[in-house]
Amino acid sequence: MNYIPDESRYQSMQYRRCGNSGLLLPAISLGLWHNFGFVDDFENSKQILFTAFDKGITHFDLANNYGPPPGAAEENLGKILKQHFAGHLRDELIISSKAGYLMWPGPYGEWGSRKYLISSLDQSLKRLQLDYVDIFYHHRPDPNTPLEESMQALDSIVRTGKALYVGISNYAAEDARKAIDILKKLGTPCVIHQPKYSMFERWVEGGLLDVLEEKGIGCIPFSPLAQGLLTDKYLKGIPANSRASQVHGFLKKEQVTAEIITKVSSLNDLAISRNQSLAQMALAWLLRDNRITSVLVGASSANQLLDSLKCLDNLSFSSDELNTIEHILKGN
Ligand SMILES: NC(=O)c1ccc[n+]([C@@H]2O[C@H](COP(=O)([O-])OP(=O)(O)OC[C@H]3O[C@@H](n4cnc5c(N)ncnc54)[C@H](OP(=O)(O)O)[C@@H]3O)[C@@H](O)[C@H]2O)c1
Repeated sequence: MNYIPDESRYQSMQYRRCGNSGLLLPAISLGLWHNFGFVDDFENSKQILFTAFDKGITHFDLANNYGPPPGAAEENLGKILKQHFAGHLRDELIISSKAGYLMWPGPYGEWGSRKYLISSLDQSLKRLQLDYVDIFYHHRPDPNTPLEESMQALDSIVRTGKALYVGISNYAAEDARKAIDILKKLGTPCVIHQPKYSMFERWVEGGLLDVLEEKGIGCIPFSPLAQGLLTDKYLKGIPANSRASQVHGFLKKEQVTAEIITKVSSLNDLAISRNQSLAQMALAWLLRDNRITSVLVGASSANQLLDSLKCLDNLSFSSDELNTIEHILKGN
């Protein structure tokens, strides 16, 4: 099948500035952590990507280790890009990758040394069949490598043209501040931070968002639906094919607790009163804050993505709704 992108693809998406940079990102970005491995249905993966692009999702997020097996998501995306997004369409896409977690055996296959970060990106580019990625991230802080070394590696990567922008992920507020300052001095600004952030995971509110705002850095929360918990899918048990039901899924059955489901059920009632699905409300709740550049969702089908995209129809909350959400999350 030959993919022809929808000509109206830029009409419904909102694009938001990434911090103080020149980079605009779609309010919804697509992550390829799950559903793009060799264990997944390749035709389904393609349909998710085509649907995303047709709806103005210009940003696809990867990492060296996404699969399974590790590397498979980059390899699959590489094939799809080569076949369907060749030529000028590459210039309409923001592709990101990362390094930080275990990718190959031995002392150079994880963390934050210059050796690891540069070798890993070279491997990613081969799998992606690309000359450069748009954003390259240090995936997690390394307590044993000088921060200067990791940041100098990111700076070198931009200077050699292998990435256009750099970012950090999973860095706590004060480490993020230091990394941002080092990169600024090196002349390669940090444009974005990728933290875990959702109604169920709010550590960023304890200082990180303030640092990012002060420094003019974008923020792209990952797992904004708490891997699917913040949807209506687990209200009546664990459905077959859901992430929690799969052996290679990172959401474990034990995480679907009665306490969580009680909260999800109340949140779902509130979402219905707003004429939204719970997934839409959970995404809107993040995007109502203008410090959030984009939310990085996953999807196991094109229809799920279409459902999530409808959050953009209503990003505002009354103070009563926000208070109700706080009560529910506190378990009151
Ligand atoms: N930087 C990091 O350390 C890091 C870590 C993790 C993730 N990430 C990035 O963040 C991306 C997103 O993470 P995530 O996949 O955990 O995000 P998520 O959006 O919280 O969860 C996605 C999952 O929720 C379910 N879902 C999505 N939309 C739905 C809808 N409208 N209705 C019902 N269910 C829906 C699907 O699960 P089912 O399979 O059950 O259908 C889907 O696979 C990743 O792909 C990756 O790019 C980064």
